[in-house]
Amino acid sequence: MGRVTDLAAFSSLLTDEGRGLLADLRHYDPAQELAVASRLRRDHPAELVSAALGQARLRQRAVAKFGADDAYRMFFTPNGVEQSTRASVARHRAASFARLGVRRVADLCCGIGGDAVALARAGIAVLAVDRDPLTAAVARANVEALGIADLVEVRCADVTEVDTSAYDAVFVDPARRGGRGRIFDPEAYSPPLSWAVDAARRAPYAALKVAPGIPHEVVPPEAEAEWISDGGDVKEAVLWFGTAPGSVRATLLPSGAALATSAPLPAPPVRGVGRYLYEPDGAVIRAHLVAEVAARLDGGLVDETIAYVTADELRPTPYAAAYEITDELPFNLKRLKALLREREVGTLTVKKRGSAVEPEEVRRRVKPKGPHAATVFLTRVAGAPTMLVGRPAAAPAERG
Ligand SMILES: C[S@@+](CC[C@H](N)C(=O)[O-])C[C@H]1O[C@@H](n2cnc3c(N)ncnc32)[C@H](O)[C@@H]1O
Repeated sequence: MGRVTDLAAFSSLLTDEGRGLLADLRHYDPAQELAVASRLRRDHPAELVSAALGQARLRQRAVAKFGADDAYRMFFTPNGVEQSTRASVARHRAASFARLGVRRVADLCCGIGGDAVALARAGIAVLAVDRDPLTAAVARANVEALGIADLVEVRCADVTEVDTSAYDAVFVDPARRGGRGRIFDPEAYSPPLSWAVDAARRAPYAALKVAPGIPHEVVPPEAEAEWISDGGDVKEAVLWFGTAPGSVRATLLPSGAALATSAPLPAPPVRGVGRYLYEPDGAVIRAHLVAEVAARLDGGLVDETIAYVTADELRPTPYAAAYEITDELPFNLKRLKALLREREVGTLTVKKRGSAVEPEEVRRRVKPKGPHAATVFLTRVAGAPTMLVGRPAAAPAERG
């Protein structure tokens, strides 16, 4: 389908007939698509039915990012839903802009409007720019559907041609996915990171969303780099301008717990495995803040290259999941099998860091059986392939 046809099909969804069809399709079962389509085609044009079914599928996919309330009012494109910022992360960012006193943001590369919506809901006026006509039309429909059109101006333009001098902040979320999966070279972003950095330097405040794998060396010295995880999964990194030059920060959603420093500690000591093993959150690891977490736990690393912290005490921290370690064995699946059999472990969680062995392979080889649960860590301890067996540590208050 060509671009113009895409736009025409999308516009047809905004008519009363299109909206009615979408409302009917809210609870449709994709497995029944053929039957649903032929039923609807009796009363509606085939193109409209196919556009509505496509949109209904996208809305179902979008629920995970936007929640059902918004997802079933919003509109999406396949790339738009894929590339949009999830609502929890966009809300967090919008709140950060609001805390800086920002009132007007130029959202350069707005996509279907994931960030623009959150900014407007934080009371910030937004100029939302995307060069793709269909994407811009979808963003416009979204701010209308969510009742925030008075705060958001959507403009279809190339961001490199937009004058942002009237705005007290710019936010840039470049397109990062090429035809062959994700692009890790920040100069291959559209627009390239160097353009976004220039735009950021011209504004009083700026935030640039980048892939979480961005090497620390390419972070400009005047930027503050923030890594954000949600539910333990690292979602993105953001380079802030106008805030805390040279700082790194890990923000963990949904709690919002944030660990930051402008003077990173040296690498933690390597020590023997203690009673507890802590698995730092991915945002902490990406932000290179494992040493800060180890210091708070009075712990050390099990190996200088591995981001597991070990300590003798259980200290509650939002930045790492704690496990009580019961056994430390050299890597050997036969021994693991014997140990788990003896302990009657039927539910085995396999975690690994610094091991090439696949968790599925371990489960297949040890065939866990029994009423108990355990976690095994496949890792290296002081360079040697090692298995650490344990279980999630109960919070101190829960221990009888
Ligand atoms: C990652 S998406 C933005 C997602 C958005 N923040 C959201 O949460 O929905 C990037 C967008 O940048 C747009 N884009 C890429 N290069 C552009 C340029 N030079 N000018 C305007 N838009 C551009 C693409 O069309 C795409 O929609």
